[in-house]
Amino acid sequence: MNPRILPSHKVIFTVFFFFFWILCLVVGSPVLAATIGSGDCQPQRCGNHTIKYPFWLSNKQPSYCGVSPFNVTCISSGGQAETLSLNVFDGLYHVKNIFYENKSVQLNAAGFDDDRCPLPTFNITSGLYPFDLSSANKRIFFLSNCSSPMNLSAFQNISCAADGGLAYFGGEYNGSGKLNFSGGVCKLFVVPVVGYIDVGIDVNYSALLRTGWLLNWTAPDCTVCSDSGGQCGFNDTTSKFMCICPDRVHLRKCG
Ligand SMILES: *[C@@H]1O[C@H](CO)[C@@H](O)[C@H](O)[C@H]1NC(C)=O
Ligand SMILES: *[C@@H]1O[C@H](CO)[C@@H](O)[C@H](O)[C@H]1NC(C)=O
Ligand SMILES: *[C@@H]1O[C@H](CO)[C@@H](O)[C@H](O)[C@H]1NC(C)=O
Ligand SMILES: *[C@@H]1O[C@H](CO)[C@@H](O)[C@H](O)[C@H]1NC(C)=O
Ligand SMILES: *[C@@H]1O[C@H](CO)[C@@H](O)[C@H](O)[C@H]1NC(C)=O
Ligand SMILES: *[C@@H]1O[C@H](CO)[C@@H](O)[C@H](O)[C@H]1NC(C)=O
Ligand SMILES: *[C@@H]1O[C@H](CO)[C@@H](O)[C@H](O)[C@H]1NC(C)=O
Ligand SMILES: *[C@@H]1O[C@H](CO)[C@@H](O)[C@H](O)[C@H]1NC(C)=O
Ligand SMILES: *[C@@H]1O[C@H](CO)[C@@H](O)[C@H](O)[C@H]1NC(C)=O
Ligand SMILES: *[C@@H]1O[C@H](CO)[C@@H](O)[C@H](O)[C@H]1NC(C)=O
Ligand SMILES: *[C@@H]1O[C@H](CO)[C@@H](O)[C@H](O)[C@H]1NC(C)=O
Ligand SMILES: *[C@@H]1O[C@H](CO)[C@@H](O)[C@H](O)[C@H]1NC(C)=O
Repeated sequence: MNPRILPSHKVIFTVFFFFFWILCLVVGSPVLAATIGSGDCQPQRCGNHTIKYPFWLSNKQPSYCGVSPFNVTCISSGGQAETLSLNVFDGLYHVKNIFYENKSVQLNAAGFDDDRCPLPTFNITSGLYPFDLSSANKRIFFLSNCSSPMNLSAFQNISCAADGGLAYFGGEYNGSGKLNFSGGVCKLFVVPVVGYIDVGIDVNYSALLRTGWLLNWTAPDCTVCSDSGGQCGFNDTTSKFMCICPDRVHLRKCG
């Protein structure tokens, strides 16, 4: 979230809302319905990305332009490329790609981009509501916070770990078969990565972590509405799809 944009946006929104409210009282039409403009939910850009339903750009669009948890923010710092982030309760994720055609998103934990020496500090073995972990990922694993040096010839040594701790990259994780750490001297962390890249133990594991993994989603389909010239939206109060058309809001499509 950009603190410089959001408050002024809120102010503008409040002013507009108040303006419409007065207008509606005067005209005598339903208050809230009139606040939805047919142009409110135009697709937005952030760097490479096109943001449209079911995603909504929280610092530029009203929440009804998408489904509530598909809340993304565009962050630009200094002269750097804009970064799209997904805001979820348990952390910040950077969105690398949105594939609307097969309803999947590629993202990574923001910490992997920001840290000079990225290392997972938690397991990522499940989805992220409302996203499911795609079966198109591979899994890789790390041993970290080891209490004593391990002579693991089949692992990549990680020497940059914070606090000088001992850590190792183990390549692809395919069950516990090859792992027998009955001594329990290290912590095991498993994270997904996109399935199409090499995950052998000699690869640049930082680059792997930064590439991210795929999640898929389901949401009411937008094509019928957009084909009819509308913009898709979602009413979080009623949990109902909206097709925002030039004349008014329709249930499925315009006309
Ligand atoms: C959502 O639906 C409720 C109940 O019909 C309505 O009062 C409200 O205005 C709708 N919100 C939006 C953003 O359309
Ligand atoms: C756009 O996306 C491609 C890959 O999807 C990436 O290589 C490129 O750096 C991106 N450009 C910007 C400006 O983000
Ligand atoms: C969307 O994300 C922003 C940034 O984290 C947050 O301030 C806002 O409350 C979120 N909105 C909703 C409806 O979840
Ligand atoms: C969706 O399509 C993109 C681009 O074709 C592909 O890279 C990605 O793996 C697909 N997602 C899933 C979940 O298969
Ligand atoms: C690493 O292990 C030490 C004790 O062995 C513990 O105090 C510390 O919290 C651990 N750090 C992490 C990130 O798990
Ligand atoms: C590590 O183990 C290999 C055999 O697996 C051995 O040749 C090597 O000397 C060991 N290195 C250390 C530092 O213990
Ligand atoms: C990792 O370091 C150990 C010594 O701590 C060494 O024996 C081993 O060969 C190293 N492994 C690799 C892949 O460099
Ligand atoms: C398990 O992972 C290793 C690499 O770590 C790979 O060589 C092996 O083929 C994998 N086994 C299965 C059953 O996928
Ligand atoms: C794991 O290693 C311990 C000794 O380090 C050994 O006693 C045990 O049998 C091993 N377990 C498996 C399943 O290989
Ligand atoms: C991470 O997941 C693996 C596999 O499910 C499990 O063995 C390991 O204990 C987990 N690590 C942590 C820190 O929870
Ligand atoms: C690994 O990849 C990262 C980011 O993609 C890059 O900054 C780093 O220099 C690479 N490390 C090596 C040893 O190539
Ligand atoms: C995601 O894809 C998997 C198959 O890869 C499928 O089983 C699952 O139902 C999908 N989840 C959603 C939310 O579409």
